[in-house]
Amino acid sequence: MRASAGREKPADFPSLVPATSPRPAPVRVALLGCGHVGSAVADLLALRAPEIAIRTGMYFELVGVAVADLSRERPGATALDRALFTSDAKALVERDDVDVVVELIGGLDPARTLVEAALCKGKPVVTANKVLLAQAGAELSAIASAHGVDLLYEAAVGGAIPVVRPLRESLAGERVLRVTGILNGTTNYILTRMTDDAMDYADALAEAQHLGLAERDPSADVSGDDAAAKAAILAALAFGSDVLGTTVSREGITGIRALDVAHASRLGYVIKLLAVAELLDGGPDVSVRVHPAMVPAAHPLASVRGAFNAVFVEGEACGEIMLYGRGAGGAPTASAVLGDLIDAARNLRAGSHAPAPHRAKTTVRPPSELSAAFYISLDVLDRPGVLAAVAAAFGAHGVSIRAMEQEGVGREARLVFLTHSAREGDVRATLETLREIETVERVGTVLRVIGPGDGALGQAPTGTGA
Ligand SMILES: NC(=O)c1ccc[n+]([C@@H]2O[C@H](COP(=O)([O-])OP(=O)(O)OC[C@H]3O[C@@H](n4cnc5c(N)ncnc54)[C@H](OP(=O)(O)O)[C@@H]3O)[C@@H](O)[C@H]2O)c1
Repeated sequence: MRASAGREKPADFPSLVPATSPRPAPVRVALLGCGHVGSAVADLLALRAPEIAIRTGMYFELVGVAVADLSRERPGATALDRALFTSDAKALVERDDVDVVVELIGGLDPARTLVEAALCKGKPVVTANKVLLAQAGAELSAIASAHGVDLLYEAAVGGAIPVVRPLRESLAGERVLRVTGILNGTTNYILTRMTDDAMDYADALAEAQHLGLAERDPSADVSGDDAAAKAAILAALAFGSDVLGTTVSREGITGIRALDVAHASRLGYVIKLLAVAELLDGGPDVSVRVHPAMVPAAHPLASVRGAFNAVFVEGEACGEIMLYGRGAGGAPTASAVLGDLIDAARNLRAGSHAPAPHRAKTTVRPPSELSAAFYISLDVLDRPGVLAAVAAAFGAHGVSIRAMEQEGVGREARLVFLTHSAREGDVRATLETLREIETVERVGTVLRVIGPGDGALGQAPTGTGA
């Protein structure tokens, strides 16, 4: 999801530093990547330079910009001197006149090698790269600590929303029980349009693509991959878990139909794609997962609409905290990068660095071991005996039905079930049995239901997940 940085003329700020005192040496910055976020960082750095100098007493100088394609026209990019550009990012990182490295290339390689090289040379790194952190965050944090420098990544989760620093610093004394995020603006936009305007998934996705809120290939967003990387980072921050982004259990939103959204609304729920990191049974076991869920309409996360993101933190002493804002886009993401850059420069000058997230031995339990209430829709042939066969399948696996509705007339009908809290493994086994029943044409959408009594948001987790 992308948006371009707004451009304003830099304000003429009076210098804070008296004309007689020498101007402090600038903090020399290497920018790796000048795409959506990189160009917005360059813009914001130029635009806010006078204000930043007043607030911090520091001056930042962009001394090099690494890109993949030197010949590319960059009409939207800042009026950067072409001489700053290079296609040799490694050489730029190693230059003696670079104090801080900002990595905005994305992906695993070459970002990982470049970040490692910078840290090993004692240069702080600021990055927005969730893929890198979800896959190699532990190793890179250890390298940063060993060299006494910062590895800061506020922009990697929730874009402009301060999430990383609050979890790492403000809540350092808290016992975090669960962190639940709406962390993908593309999917939240699609689900909001399906909820508010009864749009089909395909139409809502096409609209998001038209508005530049979804990539031409939206698979990383709609499959839950993007949110899974962020869930892994949240689990590392909240619980010290070393779960890799690629191993986080995930379900996307491609199977959700307009009918499900309408049904959820009638029952008083909103469907959201949630990224969850949760301490189980008091720890140290955790659950880290991404899936769509039916969230009660009255829950704060239900009010997160359109492309906005939010993170809902539940702690033993602090209770509930919700952080909300723009989770992507050039300018919002650049704002978080700039905050980290100032922090890194300040720490570098002071010879200190931010505390590395603590690491703890945790076991990630698979979703099949967790419990939740479920919404299950079935397309069935409207024949005598169907209901009895279906109810028997639920009973055989010990899944108890809380409510059932039938829709449709004629040959085909749709049955919608809400279950009481049940072990997910038992629910999956029930679905297998249902698929074998001749009159069940199709097992449709299956969603976890967040609500009282189901180990859901707002309650102490006891091995029962949302
Ligand atoms: N976009 C967002 O809203 C957003 C939000 C939060 C976090 N992020 C994260 O921010 C990072 C950057 O995202 P983006 O959207 O700005 O990506 P982007 O628009 O695709 O930009 C990537 C930049 O990296 C450069 N690049 C690629 N390979 C390179 C190489 N081998 N050496 C040097 N430069 C190279 C590209 O050069 P060319 O310009 O020559 O192609 C381009 O300037 C990613 O980690 C992303 O996950 C993005």
